[in-house]
Amino acid sequence: MSGEVTDMSGDQTASSAGHKGSVTKAVIPVAGLGTRFLPATKATPKEMLPVVDKPAIQYVVEEATGAGLNDVLLVTGRNKDAIENHFDRAWELEAALEKKGDQQRLQRVQKSQVLGDIHYVRQGDPRGLGHAVLCGAAHVGNEPFAVLLGDDLIDPRDPLLPTMLDVQRRHGGSVVALIEVDPAQINLYGCAAVEPDEGDVVRVTDLVEKPDPDSAPSNLAIIGRYVLHPAVFDVLRETPPGRGGEIQLTDALKTLIDEPADDGGGVRAVVFRGRRYDTGDRLDYLRTIVSLASERDDLGPDFRAFLREFVATMPPEAGPGDAS
Ligand code: UTP
Repeated sequence: MSGEVTDMSGDQTASSAGHKGSVTKAVIPVAGLGTRFLPATKATPKEMLPVVDKPAIQYVVEEATGAGLNDVLLVTGRNKDAIENHFDRAWELEAALEKKGDQQRLQRVQKSQVLGDIHYVRQGDPRGLGHAVLCGAAHVGNEPFAVLLGDDLIDPRDPLLPTMLDVQRRHGGSVVALIEVDPAQINLYGCAAVEPDEGDVVRVTDLVEKPDPDSAPSNLAIIGRYVLHPAVFDVLRETPPGRGGEIQLTDALKTLIDEPADDGGGVRAVVFRGRRYDTGDRLDYLRTIVSLASERDDLGPDFRAFLREFVATMPPEAGPGDAS
């Protein structure tokens, strides 16, 4: 991951009203049930599903620490022990690899243990993303922080978080990330109404969770990266369960749009045009693995040869007029 966070020393301190200070903490919610991936996620967290040979969550933690957020809080829940084990030491494994003299694999195993300062908090009941973020309130305290969803991967070649951190540093308030989606698919996402600001940075004027395509204010969908003002915690405490009976982060952000800037209000967005992979969705998960594996130096050449052969022998899809 490229892109260090700009040194913000000399700028406003984190305790000032606008909270345009340096961000050091990342909250990564991983307590969801992962129902779209059942039965694979019955006993294994979806964030631990391998993306080639690394669990999805490691890409996300690497993205956070690569952007300078060395204090990482994972919001976990039942059945998520594998995530804690992954970021812990694995003595027997290390000893076995050391004995074999397999330095390369040893380094790969150790990589996940030295990624920043990782903390955990449990979300007793998975009562929604907003509730998961609220579980991080005591750890985060009164400073702006990032939220990265544990199943949403941003390609390190297209850094997004450093831009969002920079927007929050310059303007205060909160920052979300948006992508343009097919208008017919907007009902799968939180959707933003926006006004232009500067280039790919826009002002958010309204947010709607999973709107009907006919009434959606735009085709701009919220993806799993946020830089939030700590005022969001007070708003979340007052936010009733919304769509699906869950406490929605989108609902809390909607409230923050209209709050005065001095109280931590205002929401901007960065429109992201890079590569993003939603590993919580089965089809996107498959696309992710094929894309990333085919680009790898070690696996790519053989895998691409296989793919070419596979596609060449694939029967054509039956068109609408072809049904017999
Ligand atoms: P998703 O809605 O994609 O997760 O939440 P889910 O509920 O696990 O997925 P499905 O729809 O049942 O397959 C996005 C992120 O927020 C976390 C999830 O772990 C995921 O990383 N999350 C969601 C929580 O931590 N707590 C919750 O209550 C809900």
